[in-house]
Amino acid sequence: MFYETSEHHGLKHNPFKAIVSPRPIGWVSSMDKEGVLNLAPFSFFNAMSDNPPTVVLGFSGSHSEGGPKDTLANIEETGEFVCNVVTYDIRDAMNATSEMTARATNEFELGNLTALPSSLVKPPRVGESPVNMECKYLQTIDLPSNNPEHPNRMLLGQVVGIHINDDIITDGLVDMSKFRPLARLGYKDYTSVTDVFSLLRPDQAKQDQRAKR
Ligand SMILES: Cc1cc2nc3c(=O)[nH]c(=O)nc-3n(C[C@H](O)[C@H](O)[C@H](O)COP(=O)(O)O)c2cc1C
Repeated sequence: MFYETSEHHGLKHNPFKAIVSPRPIGWVSSMDKEGVLNLAPFSFFNAMSDNPPTVVLGFSGSHSEGGPKDTLANIEETGEFVCNVVTYDIRDAMNATSEMTARATNEFELGNLTALPSSLVKPPRVGESPVNMECKYLQTIDLPSNNPEHPNRMLLGQVVGIHINDDIITDGLVDMSKFRPLARLGYKDYTSVTDVFSLLRPDQAKQDQRAKR
């Protein structure tokens, strides 16, 4: 099949998010100027570069009370946030924090989660998450939108500090079998990492062969 994205796809559901999958989930803690905590998951999330590390978040739609979602508003207001990594074990808590609630709601309480102090930014990190990336705001970019009441925005942040729980490190490497990060598929579906294999790039394989000779 082929469809132009300006036309209807003809399927039961829009397949786009099932195709671009799995997507990592940035579980973002932020704070407004008055110190009200906020926590919400975003699967339009990824790493964009690694030296220095930068991340991207995609916001679609608005808050039910009008204006941007709390996460976007808070980050633009205070310039700081934390991207916590969601794992299989804490999937239900993550899901609980995705509820569109009143602006003043502290979603740490909705998910029964521990707010631990961060080292370099004011918003706290999620204690139950084994990896927390402390971030500083870089910029927001407006994206095209087919619905003027449903704006799309992309936010870039620089990661300034990373907490990693020592329990998921084996021989100096992040051990994916202990980490089990959760990722978003299409529809209502998720996956988590249970299977890992390695591939050497062609130039690395050649180097390896030369070293063995
Ligand atoms: C797994 C998951 C991924 C989500 N990804 C996004 C996303 O990438 N962008 C977005 O705007 N909303 C996303 N949402 C919905 C937001 O989490 C939801 O609108 C939330 O209420 C926003 O909270 P806030 O207003 O406190 O920022 C996602 C929800 C779930 C459960």
